[in-house]
Amino acid sequence: MPKLVVTNREGETSEIEVENGLNVMEAVRDNGFDELLALCGGCCSCATCHVYVDEAPTALPEMSEDEDDLLESSDHRNEKSRLSCQIPLTPELSGLKVTIAPED
Ligand code: FES
Repeated sequence: MPKLVVTNREGETSEIEVENGLNVMEAVRDNGFDELLALCGGCCSCATCHVYVDEAPTALPEMSEDEDDLLESSDHRNEKSRLSCQIPLTPELSGLKVTIAPED
């Protein structure tokens, strides 16, 4: 099972094991991180699943125009920003490190 390292808004880091086939948003939400609202359920229309990718073992899927536009609406966007629902947690991405971005 792929592993994911998550830092919450308090700065606490945990490593979780994730079922195959989930995206990063689902993995974070299903492991009790209620800071990640993910209001649209992963349809790429809310930006409440914003994370910073601290370290990726391999290249992430490219950002779509929709994701880019949504992130543009966040005051907390930086060069590490991604919408976590747009990153499938493949075995190649095992060990991915993300930090939950501040709430907008
Ligand atoms: S959950 Fe809404 S954009 Fe990711």
